[in-house]
Amino acid sequence: MKQLVIQAFGDADQLRLVEAARPALAPGQIRVKMHYAGVNPIDAKTRAGLGWGAQAIKDKLPWSPGFEVMGSVLETGAEVSRYRPADRVFGLVAGGGYGEELVVEADELLPVPAGVPDEMAAGLSLAGATAWQGLTDHGALQAGERVLISAAAGGVGHLAVQLAKGLGATVVALASPNNHDFLRGLGADEVIDYRNEPQLAGLAPVDLFFDLVGGTSGVTLLSHVKPGGRVVTVPTITAEQIIAAAGALGLQATGMLRRIDNTQLEQLIQAVADGSLQVVVTHCYALAEGAAAHRQIESGHTRGKLLLRG
Ligand SMILES: NC(=O)c1ccc[n+]([C@@H]2O[C@H](COP(=O)([O-])OP(=O)(O)OC[C@H]3O[C@@H](n4cnc5c(N)ncnc54)[C@H](OP(=O)(O)O)[C@@H]3O)[C@@H](O)[C@H]2O)c1
Repeated sequence: MKQLVIQAFGDADQLRLVEAARPALAPGQIRVKMHYAGVNPIDAKTRAGLGWGAQAIKDKLPWSPGFEVMGSVLETGAEVSRYRPADRVFGLVAGGGYGEELVVEADELLPVPAGVPDEMAAGLSLAGATAWQGLTDHGALQAGERVLISAAAGGVGHLAVQLAKGLGATVVALASPNNHDFLRGLGADEVIDYRNEPQLAGLAPVDLFFDLVGGTSGVTLLSHVKPGGRVVTVPTITAEQIIAAAGALGLQATGMLRRIDNTQLEQLIQAVADGSLQVVVTHCYALAEGAAAHRQIESGHTRGKLLLRG
């Protein structure tokens, strides 16, 4: 089976399509025919050798990215009763999603409900878990509160806008002007161009700042949080910097690392099934176009989600 791997950390051209061995199936495992893998910034950061992801795999190269997956069951191990061949499954895995097939423990993945398109299930799990855990577990967002979401049009942000609205919050979304109608369509109450300083200056203070950009942007936007308000900063590489700056202003700030919680993922896919949550996929790349997909996610200006076709 074909798989996209890196032999060494480096730029997007490090991604090579290789013929990989098909692993044997253990009794509790399933073999999945990959339909799609989500392309996320963590894939590109890890490929480049940056952050905690690269630390975790530096002694395990070659490595295939791909944490957010969707496919259909090809084969089940002797002890698996939950799935049959052709069942559609999705979820979060420990990597290796950039290939034609994947072997995982049967309970790692979840069924895709009837009526949910493959592409929506494929782009949901990493971005959706991050959005939900950031707003609720870490941000404690309550109905009636104001939440500021930076990078609102991106993979995590466009789901966070919808989830925050569903929680009854007033959503202030930051994005380039070409994304404003898109975000209003997803339910954002106020949409602001983050490069437009006069517009930003007029922003009424928020209870929660969900920071999806970090760095200088994250620090600058802290001035829009109410005294004693809350900050959840998602990019891990600059989290310490944002937390220190927020602390100096008397704000409560935390970083986060999304965790796998399949009960939450079941609720999220149910929201997709009932139409209350929309996963917007802007482009699907072939496996052979992995480098182009990484260059696009590294541009920092992707709307919604990108997928790789297995
Ligand atoms: N800690 C964790 O567990 C975790 C989990 C998931 C993601 N993350 C991190 O969270 C960040 C967001 O992830 P993502 O998947 O949503 O990324 P993404 O899809 O690549 O985000 C793209 C969006 O960022 C917006 N953007 C770029 N610069 C901006 C700025 N200065 N101000 C406001 N918006 C800006 C762009 O909007 P415009 O095109 O409109 O400019 C674009 O829509 C990444 O750093 C990622 O690594 C962390």
